Amino acid sequence: MSNNPTPGKCQGKPILGWFFFLITVAAVFGLGLLFASIMERRDEAKIRPPMVKIDKFEADNTKWSENWPRQHASYREMDDDTTRTKFGGAGPIDYLADTTANVILFAGYGFSKDYLQARGHTYAVEDITQTGRNNGKLPATCWTCKSPDVPRLMAQFGKKKVANPDDASLQELAVAGAGDFYSKKWNDFKDDITHPIGCLDCHEPDTMKLRVSRPALIEAFKRQGKDVNKVSHQEMRTLVCAQCHVEYYFKGKGKYLTFPWDQGTTPEAMEAYYNDADFKDWTHAISKTPMIKMQHPDYEVYSTGIHAFRGVSCADCHMPYRSEGGAKFSDHHLQSPLLNISNSCAVCHRWSEDETRSRVEDIQTKNAQGRARAERAIAFAHFDIAACMQIGVTDEQINSVRQLVRSAQMNWDYVAANNGMGFHSPQECMRILTKAIEKAQEARIQAARLLATYGYVKEVVYPDYSTKEKAQTLIKTFIAGNAPDLLNGYKVQ
Ligand code: HEC
Ligand code: HEC
Ligand code: HEC
Ligand code: HEC
Repeated sequence: MSNNPTPGKCQGKPILGWFFFLITVAAVFGLGLLFASIMERRDEAKIRPPMVKIDKFEADNTKWSENWPRQHASYREMDDDTTRTKFGGAGPIDYLADTTANVILFAGYGFSKDYLQARGHTYAVEDITQTGRNNGKLPATCWTCKSPDVPRLMAQFGKKKVANPDDASLQELAVAGAGDFYSKKWNDFKDDITHPIGCLDCHEPDTMKLRVSRPALIEAFKRQGKDVNKVSHQEMRTLVCAQCHVEYYFKGKGKYLTFPWDQGTTPEAMEAYYNDADFKDWTHAISKTPMIKMQHPDYEVYSTGIHAFRGVSCADCHMPYRSEGGAKFSDHHLQSPLLNISNSCAVCHRWSEDETRSRVEDIQTKNAQGRARAERAIAFAHFDIAACMQIGVTDEQINSVRQLVRSAQMNWDYVAANNGMGFHSPQECMRILTKAIEKAQEARIQAARLLATYGYVKEVVYPDYSTKEKAQTLIKTFIAGNAPDLLNGYKVQ
């Protein structure tokens, strides 16, 4: 017999009742959700025009704070430079004492004298002024990523005329004047540039819309046939950072700030660009190799990772929403997300704070191991080349070995100079490190062969660079021409 009674009068009524009951429950629940969501997003969506009018070139963050006290107060939290995570934080870690191979790798260049971990944005002007790499003779280009005073000065010193200067946008004026600004000296602007990275760098004052204020990114996009102003809102939440957190170089005599992206943003593409341009940042003091310093290709590395692939922006992790007194706003305390896991990661990942931290540290530790192996191989390769020079190998014979070391170190630096110790794109960083190690070891094999042709078959005597002081004293001997004998008294017969 069927359990299924034929639909009839006695069945219809309760079913209908339940139906209405469930509809009502669902409706009430839905309204509740909607209300909660409205409450939550009330302040999120509220980018209303400022109450106090802000000038097109207003670089003083305190002026903006009258309209946006919460964002400004959180921005000022970057004054705390005491934080520390396993590999990051805002404390000024000394990268030369921490990793003494850095002194060897950057021998003959400013980074072997002074190389500290970055602090928060509020220190940008102070840090560029005080770094041991600044001898006062730097080009004005060095100011570009430090201060919202820069676009105004570009506009002021630009000789190129724009159609309607009074109506022209900050972007137009900055692009027109950039070249004249870059060709001046750092010292020319040291009284005009006082405000560290701030509101004007990322926001349009009238509307508070995000926008790119720096010419180099606008121009790099243009050369690739893209328009920096025609990207999605989500992409803009990354591009405001990509104005500064990228690889760049100073092109030509006018020291024109340029991103080497014409062939792409992979290390291969940037290396090809630099090789085609026959560019070098400096000549290595130990191996006389024409070298390239990578700056901080954070955007490029990030772009190859899983988060970029899934549309997660820099701001999602570094500027998460924060709630205060019922208001929700973007946290302007840009820092290591590991100091704020609940807001930065837990929105998307249901892992506990401890799990998240240990997952990140595990990724970073592996990256750090790969990095250290590359560092050692490249440092030794510089000494191997120096040993070849001591034995009498000619430039002609050794130049191809130098090319290998140049490439190895550029690839290593793409990973080393990028912030986050590999987290932004672990697999890509590992791929590049294995390449750096392979090239450095190939250079060492070729150098050993050259030494062998001169009858030297023992190991090169590698000098001690185990402390920052020892390493710095050592590279001075190479610069002064009284370097230690790397061949232990060996003389060609
Ligand atoms: C998925 C989240 C996430 C995204 C997206 C992300 N980051 Fe990070 N970032 C991190 C984590 C995690 C660290 C490691 C922090 C540490 O080691 O303390 C980090 C480190 C950094 C650091 C160094 C901070 C420090 O204290 O050492 C900088 C600078 C940085 N990121 C910039 C960027 C930029 C620029 C972008 C976009 C191009 C970006 N990040 C995208 C999570 C993210
Ligand atoms: C490094 C870039 C950057 C700087 C510098 C910056 N902001 Fe923002 N700001 C952002 C981003 C990214 C958002 C998120 C905007 C979005 O998604 O619509 C934001 C959002 C805002 C909003 C919209 C409401 C909110 O909180 O989401 C206000 C208002 C604001 N910022 C004010 C300021 C003020 C005031 C300063 C200077 C003290 C400042 N910002 C400096 C990047 C920046
Ligand atoms: C105008 C250039 C500029 C822009 C725009 C910019 N940065 Fe920076 N950023 C810097 C400089 C310069 C430093 C190093 C400051 C120092 O050490 O004095 C820095 C440092 C940092 C640090 C290190 C702070 C710490 O506590 O470890 C983080 C994180 C960071 N930036 C993230 C971002 C993110 C995310 C964005 C986009 C939302 C962004 N930055 C936009 C120039 C910029
Ligand atoms: C806006 C959402 C979002 C935020 C915020 C976010 N993630 Fe993710 N994360 C993702 C997505 C999406 C993936 C890819 C997972 C997938 O597709 O299976 C991912 C993947 C990962 C992975 C796996 C990586 C791999 O190689 O497979 C790790 C680890 C991770 N996230 C850590 C973090 C940490 C740490 C933070 C905070 C600093 C963070 N995420 C913030 C969305 C986010």
